[in-house]
Amino acid sequence: RMPSLAACYNLMDFEAVARQVMKKTAWAYYSSGADDEITMRENHAAFHKIWFRPRILVDVENIDMSTTMLGTKCSIPFYVTATALGKLGNPEGEVVLTRAAHQHDVVQMIPTLASCSFDEIVDAKQGDQVQWLQLYVNKDREITRKIVAHAEKRGCKGLFITVDAPQLGRREKDMRSKFSDAGSNVQAGDGGVDRSQGAARAISSFIDPALSWKDIPWFQSITKMPIVLKGVQCVEDVLRAVEAGVDGVVLSNHGGRQLETARSGIEVLAEVMPALRERGWENKIEVFVDGGVRRATDILKALCLGAKGVGIGRPFLYAMSAYGLDGVDRAMQLLKDEMEMNMRLIGAARIEDLNPSLLDTRALLGG
Ligand code: FNR
Repeated sequence: RMPSLAACYNLMDFEAVARQVMKKTAWAYYSSGADDEITMRENHAAFHKIWFRPRILVDVENIDMSTTMLGTKCSIPFYVTATALGKLGNPEGEVVLTRAAHQHDVVQMIPTLASCSFDEIVDAKQGDQVQWLQLYVNKDREITRKIVAHAEKRGCKGLFITVDAPQLGRREKDMRSKFSDAGSNVQAGDGGVDRSQGAARAISSFIDPALSWKDIPWFQSITKMPIVLKGVQCVEDVLRAVEAGVDGVVLSNHGGRQLETARSGIEVLAEVMPALRERGWENKIEVFVDGGVRRATDILKALCLGAKGVGIGRPFLYAMSAYGLDGVDRAMQLLKDEMEMNMRLIGAARIEDLNPSLLDTRALLGG
């Protein structure tokens, strides 16, 4: 029996329902991580190694959780990150996420490998709603150039180039469940689809493993959208990204679906921000984090450390698969309610009030 939506009190509850009601293939694709899923579990577990140092007697009557990301205003510092194949979980696919994002004034990142076409997802946008494009770079750069130019023309406000997937990770749950039809749109260009390898590998053969730092100036020459590297995993590469003049980085391990035993994004953030501050570079680049964000306390920890915003992936897929638009709507509202309460309890009325002194990171950094 399907639990009622009102019985979902947090983002983990949607996962439990989705696991019961989703088709096996879809569940396998969404929930899988690489190899033994150690990184996937660590993504959330790492947040538990950070403790709060709240401040008392701060006026927290009025909480303002609005902020900006890449220069655009949003109601709360999280965005719907790019996750491929939305129609595996819901027949309407990614446009469901678009509608929920609109209701909550939240940014949506559109995946290259969406089930809906790119134009369908942009057409579902309302008012001055903001969308970004997640890009898998094609071996045929002319295809990539066209995708980027089209996204810019259709009003996308950020280009997120995925840099942690020169080859798709080994997701064994997904591989065991044979992929037949994920309703993927072909415009990403496939060819040579091998359906015996699970959904992920079947659709990803066009991605260019030769992509390198040398390509960054080319991207800067073909678009005016801010460029963000998605999947950066150490301080050296963040510093290099600043030197390359990119506008942002997402500290991410792709939800634990790529390199197994890669570190969590939040741990990398704790390494990155002091190095940026030391150089006076903290305003040269916007730093985002994703992976394992399930609670507003997770969002707050990332922001205290210095992130501009966080990406959330699976929870919205699960909410959409189990309950459609109402599910995603409730998931976002739950996060907003948690955020308001926890900002009060921390003693921070505005996003600008969040800073490292509100955290005790000894357990995270101490080894
Ligand atoms: C992803 N992710 C991803 N990233 C990307 O750059 N391009 C993509 O096509 C996809 N596809 C995708 C599918 C599914 C089912 C998942 C779960 C994830 C990674 C995603 O953007 C993000 O990094 C993680 O999902 C964040 O972790 P959580 O929030 O899922 O724990």
